Amino acid sequence: MRITLKVWRQQDADSPGRMVDYQLDDVSEDMSFLEMLDVLNEQLTEAGEEPVAFDHDCREGICGMCGIMIDGVAHGQELTTTCQLHMRKFNDGDTITVEPWRADPFPVIKDLVVDRGAFDRIIQAGGFISANTGSAPDAHATVVPKSDADAAFEAAACIGCGACVAACPNGSAMLFTAAKVTHLGKLPQGQPERDSRVVDMVHQHDAEGFGGCTNIGECSAVCPKGIPLNTIGQLNFDLRQALR
Ligand code: SF4
Ligand code: FES
Repeated sequence: MRITLKVWRQQDADSPGRMVDYQLDDVSEDMSFLEMLDVLNEQLTEAGEEPVAFDHDCREGICGMCGIMIDGVAHGQELTTTCQLHMRKFNDGDTITVEPWRADPFPVIKDLVVDRGAFDRIIQAGGFISANTGSAPDAHATVVPKSDADAAFEAAACIGCGACVAACPNGSAMLFTAAKVTHLGKLPQGQPERDSRVVDMVHQHDAEGFGGCTNIGECSAVCPKGIPLNTIGQLNFDLRQALR
């Protein structure tokens, strides 16, 4: 396939960025989107130009590193991570725009790479439990109702990619924060810090400059792990309980 790319190039956080056009003449439909960017970078390197910086690690949809805007949609039109998106979803002759996440709390480091340290600080504020160390207890030693286990497991699927923030017109990270609060708050092991966790994580969310949730739902619509919007309802419930 022949593909035209319009890629955001930006030297660093303080420099202005711009879209730059690149032509790729031999893209295989079996390539992942990141492999297609690898080919672009080989082409640029051979031409003596600086390759495009982009984030990635696992390339199998579990680490959350690879988020970029593809044609204006977080992770592209398919409901998956950028690394799991394949070029067979595009057509010969397509022009594709590629940009970094756009949100003030995620400053651009270079090209398509943003600093998602704000997520780390929200996790530091409350994304932990207190537990005695030692050998692992028997799996059935603490009984967990099936519905709670399912809700915790569903929330734990969040990979911290940041697509929810990039898609939200308010730049809110409530879906991410709600997933982390719910993941621990639904389990017996998460009860000792349940109240302080939700208060501290929401406080840090706001301190980082993320916007508030107004129930638009774009976050859940692009979430590659299918975190449902009602997870934010669970966060609001927990927050009300904690502040009573
Ligand atoms: S809630 Fe979904 S979109 Fe947001 S960080 Fe987690 S996995 Fe990514
Ligand atoms: S590179 Fe790990 S989720 Fe995409």
